[in-house]
Amino acid sequence: MPIPLVDLTAQYRRLKPELDAAIQRVLDRGQFILGPEVEALERDVAAYCGTSQAVAVASGTDALELTLRACGIGPGDEVVTTALSFFATAQTIASVGATPVFVDIDPVTYTLDPAQVDAAISSRTKAIVPVHLYGHPADLDALLRIAQARRLAVIEDCAQAIGAALGGRRVGSFGLAGCLSFYPSKNLGAYGDGGMVVTSDAQLAERLRILRMHGSRDRIRHDVISRNSRLDELQAAILRVKLPHLEDWNAARRRHAQTYTRLLTQAGLADRLALPQARAEAGHVFHLYVVRCQDRDRVAGQLMERGIGVQSHYTIALPHEPAFASLAHRRGQFPVAEQAADTVLSLPMYPELSEEHLRTVVQSLSEVLRGFGPSKA
Ligand SMILES: Cc1ncc(COP(=O)(O)O)c(C=O)c1O
Repeated sequence: MPIPLVDLTAQYRRLKPELDAAIQRVLDRGQFILGPEVEALERDVAAYCGTSQAVAVASGTDALELTLRACGIGPGDEVVTTALSFFATAQTIASVGATPVFVDIDPVTYTLDPAQVDAAISSRTKAIVPVHLYGHPADLDALLRIAQARRLAVIEDCAQAIGAALGGRRVGSFGLAGCLSFYPSKNLGAYGDGGMVVTSDAQLAERLRILRMHGSRDRIRHDVISRNSRLDELQAAILRVKLPHLEDWNAARRRHAQTYTRLLTQAGLADRLALPQARAEAGHVFHLYVVRCQDRDRVAGQLMERGIGVQSHYTIALPHEPAFASLAHRRGQFPVAEQAADTVLSLPMYPELSEEHLRTVVQSLSEVLRGFGPSKA
């Protein structure tokens, strides 16, 4: 039985009547951009994340970029961020004209290592952008302490972690702002691109509302040069059907992660793979279940041949992306992120997986690894 990395049709099949009705409602109303569905979604997501405001935009990438701009960050400024993430985290810092200053990750959580952040801060630093990678909250307590002491904004990249929590409080509500992605495969996914900024700073939210609409407050007069970055009503209506299920879906992901860990351990593979470990107080939402293994690319190839959908998030540490060649980072400067980029492997993960699916993945991994040497990542 082939098992994809993510199956988006399973969720649609379960919610089809409600989703179809929501789509029809928008078509019948005939209002397609920034209407009542978007406003209701903004209220619901703000309440869910524990902030007073939310501003819907066209993607998670735009959520990050417009937040940086709304904070006045631009040429000459530096922004401290993680060496391991999806490219957009660092790209947006560069696209507003600022310089990303990369910091290595914690080897257990794969998130920004607070112990190394102080040394990366200079007089030009304006913000810290931690990423709750794979759904594991970054060490926000430590990062906020540093940010407060150095008077820096914390902009949380929550693209992979809607619903993740620390001490019972949801990510996105800790920093000045949290940036969400509704890319279809995310824990709360639309049927197209979408994103949102959550914040309890009303002035920041107002600036974002202007930036998402050509720099205009009233669609008549334009105060700054910006762009069009809006969520459409169809996506908002779809997301409103899905949001009430998010807690159950995140709980299912956590259960699958526990099952994977149990089955991989029973299969004697815990010595061959580095299994994910959550910090005790962290409400991990397992956007991805990521193991590390030697010979990763060959293992991945053989799993794909057996119909198991795997992928690596990510194979190039951000400082070593060709687009950042001008920053002249050398291999060895970010040893933990570099080792992760060489070895990480994401196994199939979505709420609708059954225990049989998980057993099949573990069985296949076990068979593939039998053909390889005994080393651990
Ligand atoms: C960590 C991270 N940041 C930012 C983004 C960008 O989000 P989007 O694809 O919605 O632009 C993504 C998603 O792909 C992501 O995983």
